[in-house]
Amino acid sequence: MAVVVLDFGSQYTRLIARRLRELRAYSVILPGTAPWAAIEREEPEAIVLSGGPSSVFAEDAPRPDPGVLEGRVPVLGICYGMQYLAQAFGGTVERRGRAEYGRAVLTRYEGPLFAGLTGEVQVWMSHADAVTRLPEGWRAVAETEENPVAAIQDGSGRFFGVQFHPEVSHTPKGMAILANFLEAAGVRRDWTPGQALKDLIEEVRRRVGSDRVLLAVSGGVDSSTLALLLARAGVDHLAVFVDHGLLRLGEREEVERSLRPLGVNLRVVDASERFLAALAGVADPEEKRRIVGATFIEVFKEVARAEGPFRFLAQGTLYPDVIESAGGFGAAKIKSHHNVGGLPAELGFELLEPFRTLFKDEVRELALLLGLPDTIRLRHPFPGPGLAIRILGPVDREKLGVLRRADDLFVALLKEHGLYHEVWQALAVLLPVRSVGVTGDERRYGYTLVLRAVTSVDGMTADWARLPHDFLDEVARAIPRKVPEIGRVVYDLTSKPPGTIEWE
Ligand code: XMP
Repeated sequence: MAVVVLDFGSQYTRLIARRLRELRAYSVILPGTAPWAAIEREEPEAIVLSGGPSSVFAEDAPRPDPGVLEGRVPVLGICYGMQYLAQAFGGTVERRGRAEYGRAVLTRYEGPLFAGLTGEVQVWMSHADAVTRLPEGWRAVAETEENPVAAIQDGSGRFFGVQFHPEVSHTPKGMAILANFLEAAGVRRDWTPGQALKDLIEEVRRRVGSDRVLLAVSGGVDSSTLALLLARAGVDHLAVFVDHGLLRLGEREEVERSLRPLGVNLRVVDASERFLAALAGVADPEEKRRIVGATFIEVFKEVARAEGPFRFLAQGTLYPDVIESAGGFGAAKIKSHHNVGGLPAELGFELLEPFRTLFKDEVRELALLLGLPDTIRLRHPFPGPGLAIRILGPVDREKLGVLRRADDLFVALLKEHGLYHEVWQALAVLLPVRSVGVTGDERRYGYTLVLRAVTSVDGMTADWARLPHDFLDEVARAIPRKVPEIGRVVYDLTSKPPGTIEWE
């Protein structure tokens, strides 16, 4: 049972699905033009038509399967979705003289979609077309100053449309409006992370049976949670943690401490010599990435051969990866996305991707239920190639040691001051630049360390974090004192774009 969100190319489609899940209605996204058979397979309790960039009167406008209009399942159309419903049932949609974009206030609202709402209802508009004539038997149930048709419903109470976007935060009462739609549609709102966990455990047990599962854990939240899920499901598994020597201070021990007591069959492979030898003298960032990736696959393959055979390879692929690799809007087939840097098909594994319908924050909730400590569950993202891409120029043990200690101090102070969770990611970068300084009477010639902290939603864009000056001052004093190889500390004020979060 699911609420099916049909995607017509809106940038907010995923957000719609997430909001529905926050309302405890399990939701899935399908391409807007998915055939009725594909929709039916999800046992739809309700259907939401997303917004999209097309005009419904355009020749090539994407249209849902006609089955959607038969009224077997209640439908909510959002923006383009509403215009589509209005047109399909015989109304008229036209290009407006001027687009309505941004905040608007409903001057009138009524009916089931707005049940329980009082006072000012602010909504977010983003459209150039408008419904100018309603289909027979439909009525406008909300209007704004500029737009007499801001929301509509049909006579049967099965079809609804909103011109605005209830899913975005700029529509503060949007969650209540979505909840009202679910209520009107009779959707059971009983999907919870606990329920999801029970279902996942069942699914893993059924699929794996008495076969064996191999997985790689990185110390990140997705792979750690996956390892815990396999352990909880009680299936025969081997979780391989490759220490590539490019980890943060204490990271390996942290992973061991977090996973072993919870029943994960964890194998730690210390391959740091091998990685560092392969990286010796290499300065080019892409070359570093390639070497780390290739060496990782070599090591992983060796473990797989020595400990095999395994039938399954488990990966922590998330729903956004799945949607992305389907090519977004209109793509009919959803391929799996290989997030372990293309692990070799020749090993003949079957992929097991239990999180492929989940969003990141849902995995974090599962992690909580499975007992993953917060130090890992809520940790900042960390790149696969690790500290190799935070040391500019060639990587060696000495520089790794310096960076590791400095990074640890920075992070520890962020935590101590309650700032760690205020930023999306914080890191330190070691430059191959030395500068002159003085300590007491002594001349120093130390490395330059860059502190970087950014705010971001998804890492695609980012802004530098406005950390308090007094805090930065404390870090800048502590680091050269405790890590004497560092002579100068600077703070990076570059946003993304034009910069990236990492320096390499
Ligand atoms: P950039 O530097 O591209 O980083 O702004 C965006 C996010 O991706 C992480 N990142 C990586 N993660 N392998 C990874 O697994 C990589 O090669 C890699 N490069 C960047 C980065 O830490 C940030 O969270």
